[in-house]
Order: sequence, then structure tokens, then C-alpha cells
Amino acid sequence: MILIIGGAGYIGSHAVKACIDKGYDVVVLDNLSTGHDQAVDPRAIFVKGNLGDESLLKKIFLQHKIQAVMHFAAHSLVGESVQEPLKYYDNNVSATVTLIKEMLRHNVKRFIFSSTAATYGIPDAELIDETCPTNPINPYGRSKLMVEQMLDDAAKAYGLSYVSLRYFNAAGADESGKIGEDHDPETHLIPLVLQHLLGKRESISVFGTDYDTPDGTCIRDYIHVTDLADAHVLALQQLLEEDQVAEVYNLGNGAGYSVKEVIETCEKVTGLKANVVIADRRPGDPPRLVASSEKIHNRLGWKPKYDLEAIIQTAWHWHKQHPNGYDKE
Ligand code: UFG
Repeated sequence: MILIIGGAGYIGSHAVKACIDKGYDVVVLDNLSTGHDQAVDPRAIFVKGNLGDESLLKKIFLQHKIQAVMHFAAHSLVGESVQEPLKYYDNNVSATVTLIKEMLRHNVKRFIFSSTAATYGIPDAELIDETCPTNPINPYGRSKLMVEQMLDDAAKAYGLSYVSLRYFNAAGADESGKIGEDHDPETHLIPLVLQHLLGKRESISVFGTDYDTPDGTCIRDYIHVTDLADAHVLALQQLLEEDQVAEVYNLGNGAGYSVKEVIETCEKVTGLKANVVIADRRPGDPPRLVASSEKIHNRLGWKPKYDLEAIIQTAWHWHKQHPNGYDKE
């Protein structure tokens, strides 16, 4: 049995499906603060509650034979983390300490952590690999890096076995069209463009056209959520097969696309024309973040299946079927 915390959220719900499809039994723990009960795979056992709830965790560990824990239940808005840093340190760090302590108390020693490219800050490498220095520039990135460091210490001290996965820009939706991205508020580029093209928003803003990039807009590495989910299954297999693992892997496509290129690809996929408004830079945006995922490719054979166009096609399929997201259909 695998415990997936945050399994009602965007990336977590795709990981739940991937694990169950591969034959694992899953318990989902989610407080539904940002997740959706409709996103929880009906084949999973669902427990509503908080990640930092010691007595609830205890109950779950006593009731089920948990082989490994995946942890997706973090706050993840960079801007909000600057305004309300303690909210981020509280949930993303303190509650995770409680979780790890409770795991160890019940002799559950395998852990997969959702980390982020935000741990790198503003790197100057063309392709960022795991040896690049980590220098996060906001509380969100720092909270994630703190947990990574804590995991490393816990591995040495208590024999915790872990994999930290540093996601670049998660996007797209499961091909079934049944689960997908539904954030409130939505801040991510691809869903905002598609919602605009569906007539839900008047325009799409481009945050800054004066960056030191070929077309002046920021470059990101977009990676399909199902490719991310598949990487979790591979990491899980590594944890189940090897005695003690302490690894950090990047997850990206290794291809960078500018904001303008993303909007153009959305137009191409949908056959619709976007109303593009040039706006000021958004504080804290690094000009370019593109991953090298060679390490996980070489070690675990992970290879993303979706390029940008295929990512946007699956996202479009989801948005057309769920124009108002999960709850308001
Ligand atoms: N952008 C726009 N207009 C919008 C929304 C976004 O131009 O309406 C731009 C952003 O400025 C950025 C790019 O599109 O240049 C991508 O923005 P997203 O908000 O989609 O994604 P981010 O790259 O900001 O965020 C991702 C993850 C975060 C992580 C961050 C690290 O979603 O969890 O990378 O920098 F912290």
C-alpha cells in the first residue's frame, strides 16, 4: 500500500492514477484545501485530513501496511510565499517534519518528495543539472530546499530512503480528460491562455518582453503531468528494490519555450487567435529555466513522452470538457 498525500491535487491525482494503473494499492490523504474530491481516483482509499495531523497519520500507519509515502501536499504560489512566508514554512516544512517523524515511528522508511526548479533560483546554466548550485530566491523555493536538506540528514541519521523530484513547469492533463489542472486562483501560463481562448478571460498578459532571451519573454521547460507521474512510479520502484536511496532528480523535457512561443502553440492547437496584452515583468521570474534530466534518464530510464504541442493538446481536451473546472460543472 502506498500513501499519497495531496492525491486530490493536480500532480498528485495523476500520480495516484499512474500507481494504481501499475498495480499498487493507494491511500490518499488530502485536506481538499486546494485539491478536489472528484480528482481522487475512485479505486483509491480516501482519507480527508491534514498532512501534519499526528494522530491521523498514526491511525493510517497502524491501519494500513504502508510501503512508501509520496508527498504532494504543499503550498506552491511563489508570490503568496513572499507575502505569507510563515504559511509556507508551517505547511511545507513543519508539517513535513511531523510526517517524517510519524513515518519513522512506524518504521515506514521510503519517501518521494515533490521538489521544484525553484530550488535553483536564477541559475546561469543553459541546461540545469542536479550539480548546479541551489540558491532559491523566494520562501516557496527555500521551504522546498529545507525539506530536501532535512531528508538528507534523516537519511544519514535514521536510514530514511528518499527521492526528491525537482519538477520544472508541470502542464497538460491525463489523456482520458477526466483529471486535469484546476487551480483557484489560476496563475500558470498554459491554463490561462486556454481559458482565454475558451472565452473565460478577456486576454492573456505577457509578463515582460525585455528579458535577455531571443524574443524578450521568459523561457521555461514544460513537462507533461503524466510524464511526471510516471517518474514517481520509477522512483517508487527504485525505493522498493534498493536498500538505501538518497537521490535528487530533475524532471523536465530539456527544451525551452518562451511565453510567446507557448501562446503561439496554443493558437496552433486550438485554431483560435489570442488577444495578447504586453504587461510588466512579474517579480521573481527567472529569465530562463531549462532542465537537464539526463540523470533520471540514465539511472531509471525515464524519458518524457509529450512535447509542448502534445502537452497543450491534452490540456485543451481537459479545459474544453471542464470549462469551469471540477466543482462547478
Ligand atoms: N506568464 C505570463 N502571463 C501569465 C502567466 C505567466 O507571461 O498570465 C509567464 C510567467 O511570467 C513565466 C511563464 O509565463 O515567465 C511561466 O509562468 P507560470 O506561472 O506558468 O510558471 P512559473 O515558471 O512561474 O512557475 C513554475 C512552477 C512553480 C515554481 C516556479 C519556479 O509552477 O511552482 O516555476 O520559478 F516555483
